[in-house]
Amino acid sequence: MSEVHDAIAAIRNRRPQSVVVFTGAGVSAESGIPTFRGSGGLWRNFRAEDLATPAAFARDPKLVWEWYEWRRGLIREAQPNAAHRAIARLPDPLVVTQNVDGLHERAGSRDIVELHGNIFRARCARERKTIQAREPFDEIPPRCTCGALLRPDIVWFGETLPAGAMERAGAAIAAADLLLVIGTSGVVYPAAGLVALARGLSIEINPEASSISTACHFAVTATAADATPPIVDAIMEGR
Ligand code: APR
Repeated sequence: MSEVHDAIAAIRNRRPQSVVVFTGAGVSAESGIPTFRGSGGLWRNFRAEDLATPAAFARDPKLVWEWYEWRRGLIREAQPNAAHRAIARLPDPLVVTQNVDGLHERAGSRDIVELHGNIFRARCARERKTIQAREPFDEIPPRCTCGALLRPDIVWFGETLPAGAMERAGAAIAAADLLLVIGTSGVVYPAAGLVALARGLSIEINPEASSISTACHFAVTATAADATPPIVDAIMEGR
């Protein structure tokens, strides 16, 4: 495991220009949003794998929506933290996120690939049209105007990612001078496989070892809000 100053020294030495930031739930942990596999991530003792599936939704759409409404409530109250804000200071990064909380956009990032969708969009289970849905629903499970159930516009386990998302993320990561990996356990594919495509400098920020720590040049043992700002400062030096 590395310290922040090791990663900063490498940045100063290599002076990376093109940067891709790849994030998971850990980047939003200091905004008060529980991660999926850390302590506090369970809801009524259910894991994400138990609820974020087409089978769970078919079996009990009310239960699945109760979980999402709980998370939507937490996220509505959450604010972007110092990590989101630091990432938004980078001049032109591509932010590839597994998160569905929209906090990168609220912090000011503009070029974002949401690999797993967005918790404030819903989709008609019949017509597949999507709607913005930021406020709490009047009824759970919510229904489309056509009468069919609405589902969260989120990629569930076993479903395919948005068309072109992995291709765009993979091409950008392979071409980048620097890949910053922040707050992911690296256990959910295909997203986790993106890290192996890095050809430039790769730096992970995570207070714990993850499944991708050994794939990065530097695995900085720190939280996102602590380590991201000084690392972004080093990237911006001399720009
Ligand atoms: N700063 C940085 N990293 C943190 C912090 C923090 N403050 N707190 C926790 N972490 C790390 C944990 O050590 C863990 O490695 O964030 C990671 C969160 O891992 P997961 O909960 O597995 O979340 P993630 O990797 O984003 O999950 C991927 O799984 O459930 C699906 O679709 C869902 O997008 C999600 C995907």
